[in-house]
Amino acid sequence: MTSPDDSYIQSLFAERIGGAMFGKEQKIYKFEKIKRAKRAALAAHPGAELIDFGVGEPDEMAFPGVVRTLQQEVEKPENRGYADNGIQEFKEAAARYLRKVYGVDTINPETEVLHGIGSKPVLAMFPAIFINPGDVTLMTVPGYPIMGTHTRWYGGEVVNLPLREENGFLPDLDSVPADARKRAKLLYLNYPNNPTGAGASEAFFKKVVKFARENNIIVVQDAAYAALMFGSRPFSFLSVPGAKDVGVEIHSLSKAFNMTGWRLAFVAGNERVIAGYGNVKDNYDSGQFKAIQKAGVHALDHPGITDEITAKYERRLRAMSGVLVELGFNAKMPAGTFYLYVKMPKGVKDGRRFANAEEFSEFLISEKLISTVPWDDAGSYIRFSATFESKGRADEQRVLDEFKKRMGGLQFEF
Ligand SMILES: Cc1ncc(COP(=O)(O)O)c(C=O)c1O
Repeated sequence: MTSPDDSYIQSLFAERIGGAMFGKEQKIYKFEKIKRAKRAALAAHPGAELIDFGVGEPDEMAFPGVVRTLQQEVEKPENRGYADNGIQEFKEAAARYLRKVYGVDTINPETEVLHGIGSKPVLAMFPAIFINPGDVTLMTVPGYPIMGTHTRWYGGEVVNLPLREENGFLPDLDSVPADARKRAKLLYLNYPNNPTGAGASEAFFKKVVKFARENNIIVVQDAAYAALMFGSRPFSFLSVPGAKDVGVEIHSLSKAFNMTGWRLAFVAGNERVIAGYGNVKDNYDSGQFKAIQKAGVHALDHPGITDEITAKYERRLRAMSGVLVELGFNAKMPAGTFYLYVKMPKGVKDGRRFANAEEFSEFLISEKLISTVPWDDAGSYIRFSATFESKGRADEQRVLDEFKKRMGGLQFEF
């Protein structure tokens, strides 16, 4: 019998996932490291509570009206079949939602909207629509890497645009080199931004439209968190004059409606881009289950759900940033999302020094059983997520008090 190692299968893996080295690489990736550190910390402190600020998804169920709609729709024979590129009701609901929540009234639901099985696969498909070998995708970093990964898989190149604090965590489009501008076909933006929590102003988006036009680039604005804004109205790239001529925006029901596992999103904007997406999508999947799309219609028609969710994250983020500010961190309320992105300290008094955010994050897990996500792409920061689990309001306060107690024992140096 051949062992898994000398099986011919191992030699057949494509280079894009590591070739013959697939599964054998020694390098451990960030999220795997976090998982391992969590397991080790829990094993070292049996029965202790881990405060999990590391998760990137809502801690609660979808709202009852959405769940009930699914329960009813799942019984109906007309919903049983392939949904292909989506049902008309969902496209119309998406257009209504853009109008009601974002004031965007220019989207034709016949030709300018299509659904996706979550925004992740939509982002994964974009390079298939536009990227030939040698073409460039401009990606903001730190950020959600999916469109960059698939760009490389199609033989394209990724040019990273760093998001720096001094620039409001916006990319400096003027600094994109001439060669990259010439070869770039796609520009990935994500505002409000994961992980920085930064929002983008209308003035920035106007600049983006101009940049895209001048350089013949398609803008893909990932609006996964767009509805989760604190203190200002949700804002859509599509509301900027000319946006529809240069790109699309991807909206997800995952975060705004507590529907991560349901897998539902939509992309709206330029008709030709949507047509290309429809073609590629048709070759990948046969659409999200119609009953889920109909539950999605209910969600999109009830944006008040998002207002309740936003109020909870805002309350939590204010408390979390308050604790961090008291300890000397430069923690500011984000414009949106559910993330708090703070510069790491150099070390703790009379103790550990941290060479990078990964080390600091590992320290918090192993010493304090507090889980966070480190980012070392453009400066060293850690991300605290307000989606930690709690059993109601009183328990939420207990978790926050416990966070304060554990962090309070440390004197940070910056
Ligand atoms: C910036 C960003 N885009 C897209 C996604 C994927 O969301 P979806 O559940 O719609 O696939 C996430 C999920 O964490 C995200 O953070």
